[in-house]
Amino acid sequence: MKVTTAVAALAAGAVAAPSGDAPTPVKKVAARASCASAVTLDASTNVFKKYKLHANTYYRDEVNKAVEAISDSSLKASAAKVADVGSFLWIDTIANLAKMEPAIADTPCEDILGLVVYDLPGRDCAAKASNGELKYNELSKYKSSYIDAFVKTIKAHPNTAFALIIEPDSLPNLVTNADLQTCKDSKSAYEDGVAYALKSLNLPNVVMYIDAGHGGWLGWDANLKPGAQELAKVYKAAGSPKQVRGFSTNIAGWNAWDLSPGEFSKASDAKYNSCQNEKTYISKFSAELKSAGMPNYAIMDTGRNAVTGLRKEWGDWCNVNGAGFGVRPTADTGDSQTDAFVWGKPGGESDGTSDSSATRYDSFCGKDDAYKPAPEAGTWNQAYFEMLVKNAKPAF
Ligand code: BGC
Repeated sequence: MKVTTAVAALAAGAVAAPSGDAPTPVKKVAARASCASAVTLDASTNVFKKYKLHANTYYRDEVNKAVEAISDSSLKASAAKVADVGSFLWIDTIANLAKMEPAIADTPCEDILGLVVYDLPGRDCAAKASNGELKYNELSKYKSSYIDAFVKTIKAHPNTAFALIIEPDSLPNLVTNADLQTCKDSKSAYEDGVAYALKSLNLPNVVMYIDAGHGGWLGWDANLKPGAQELAKVYKAAGSPKQVRGFSTNIAGWNAWDLSPGEFSKASDAKYNSCQNEKTYISKFSAELKSAGMPNYAIMDTGRNAVTGLRKEWGDWCNVNGAGFGVRPTADTGDSQTDAFVWGKPGGESDGTSDSSATRYDSFCGKDDAYKPAPEAGTWNQAYFEMLVKNAKPAF
């Protein structure tokens, strides 16, 4: 049982060395206690009111390294502050399950560790940039080598609180991209895989949000009901797990919270979408979820949505040029249906490569409004990170 954890970031102050020529500052590291007993999360309440989204070690390290590479002193100082922002850690391969232990060891009792469950067979069926390691017919491997191992690690840490985002984009793809052969191939593995994840991860110290795309996706009038029904169907197939709290929106997305009129409200097809901002989308989608019989509270990614008016089209998703870090994680959303604004996508990690010769090159990453050059999805892009810092709102 883990009771206390030393965390370098909480240095209590400098203590002079006992003797010698010049006193060498020695950092006294304060211990931040993880919980002394098992954590129980009540998924009928907003757990973000009680727990702070943890600024995990993985992103902290990425940011600290990025800061070292910045020479401009004022940008450097601003960028350094990003290390303290809570964000979700993506467990995007079986090998990256190894990222969990160090992140857990660093999570104090007052924080909740945010993890993204993201390794479905045939992942990213309507795009290429995030195609995963598992083929659409490798469901049994997903269950035994990924989900079961994920569960084992969480069970080994009953004293830590976890918030999970379940498989971004997967069920939304089944709703709107069902005609693509890749999504047809993946359908049963997605539904069965997500249900298995929900059932297996239904642990007392876990709260789960199933991904529901964003307002420019399932927010179209014709998609709201089928979208909610798809999520609810899989939730019920999992046995209506108690620890499911609702849904996540705008993960790795760019939409504004309550901009009115919405960013794309002048588009010719705007009349078919009554969810022109995420606040409206959450309100309408949650109503549909309620009638479909699924818990309906939301978390929304505000990590990179500070600047609007950048995308040529609503569906442009790859490394949008000119973006800035958005509102910091908070449970003060002013909206009873929205539990928290979170940082879902770790800003600075790429959405996809701009190298058109790469296997996972997706043409969206070559569009005029996409930042170039950009490395493979999930890989650090220093220049992009610096741009996010410069354009942050609120400023750092
Ligand atoms: C990538 C993942 C990565 C995640 C977070 C996704 O688009 O496919 O590999 O972990 O973004 O950056």
